[in-house]
Amino acid sequence: MYDKVEFLYLSQDDCVKAGGLDMQGTIKATERSFFLHGKGDFILPPKPVIRWGGEDSEETIGRIMSMPSWLGGADYAEELAKIGIGPVNTSGIKFIPSKPWNPSKYNLPRANAIIIILDPETLMPQCICDGTLASAMRTGAASGVAAKYLANPDAREYGLIGSSVIGQTQLMGICAALPNLEIAKVYSPNPDHVKAFVEKMKDKVDVELRAATSYEDVISGSDVITTATMAKASYVDPKWWKEGVTHIETSFWDTPPEALAFCDKIYVDDWGQVKHHGADVSWRAVRDGFITEDKITGNLGKVLTGELEGRTGAKEKIFFNPIGMGIHDLSEAFRVFESAKAQGIGRTLPLWDHYAFD
Ligand SMILES: NC(=O)c1ccc[n+]([C@@H]2O[C@H](COP(=O)([O-])OP(=O)(O)OC[C@H]3O[C@@H](n4cnc5c(N)ncnc54)[C@H](O)[C@@H]3O)[C@@H](O)[C@H]2O)c1
Repeated sequence: MYDKVEFLYLSQDDCVKAGGLDMQGTIKATERSFFLHGKGDFILPPKPVIRWGGEDSEETIGRIMSMPSWLGGADYAEELAKIGIGPVNTSGIKFIPSKPWNPSKYNLPRANAIIIILDPETLMPQCICDGTLASAMRTGAASGVAAKYLANPDAREYGLIGSSVIGQTQLMGICAALPNLEIAKVYSPNPDHVKAFVEKMKDKVDVELRAATSYEDVISGSDVITTATMAKASYVDPKWWKEGVTHIETSFWDTPPEALAFCDKIYVDDWGQVKHHGADVSWRAVRDGFITEDKITGNLGKVLTGELEGRTGAKEKIFFNPIGMGIHDLSEAFRVFESAKAQGIGRTLPLWDHYAFD
């Protein structure tokens, strides 16, 4: 007779109660996964993507991504303690479908996700939780970590393009990571979106949040730029980049691939994954011959471990193009799961009370 199996179920509201909207906490969790990626203490198979057309169909028809991973940390407890977090040493998966018409047609977010965290000893599920929150938060935190390690430390002005869910977490992540930031400008072609975004976010950050009037207005003059949109055609003109800029491209089509030839350094989160996915601009710039593969400086995790140089000059133009790694989702969901367990948040549910084959 096998024992009953139970797991902790965390709804999105439970995740919020357990600290899921605490960007400083998410930055620690994301720094952990970048660091362990740099150390090679992870397993991250290329993510299978279900799509119903070419790469650009992800922005029009949608996609489903499955992101299984294992993340370690046992051998790096001392280094992780300096980040203010402990090891993970377990595996899990994020399952994330995306339907671009959900917001306009169904009053639902474009993406929704579920994360499963396994018990490392038995590989039975120990937590099943909403992953929509963790996914958005770790995407903003990844930009925050990139800005912390790659941006000029005196960065004052930030330009944000995209005013939806990921735009919100970009703003939270960059503001949490750059203490000298004074101004954030936001732009989206729909002025009502920008207005609503400024109203919603202005009291949630410690910087002056302004509506910009055009792509050029938001990009020129900015020390740090993030693009997180569903744009289907590129609009970034590299002539607008100021010296010393750090441009973080979280979505796919915003910057034209030829612009990457104007960058001094190009970092990604995982070049193997970027190549496998085949849609990110850093890969298309190589594939289409605008830059050679050796122009890709490397994976950001190696900058965190000190094996790869980050910014070495105040005037360098730096581009960061993360595909988004499942180890970030696991690291962040594990942080929230540990906090929920400690505070008694969530519901314990049975996978089975009586094993069917007994
Ligand atoms: N790399 C990663 O780790 C990662 C993780 C999560 C999301 N993303 C990407 O981030 C992007 C945004 O995600 P979301 O959940 O906020 O999407 P969403 O559908 O909720 O919002 C997209 C926003 O883009 C805006 N937009 C569309 N075309 C635009 C244009 N030409 N210029 C400026 N803005 C435009 C829309 O008005 C909307 O506000 C998506 O492309 C998604 O794939 C990347």
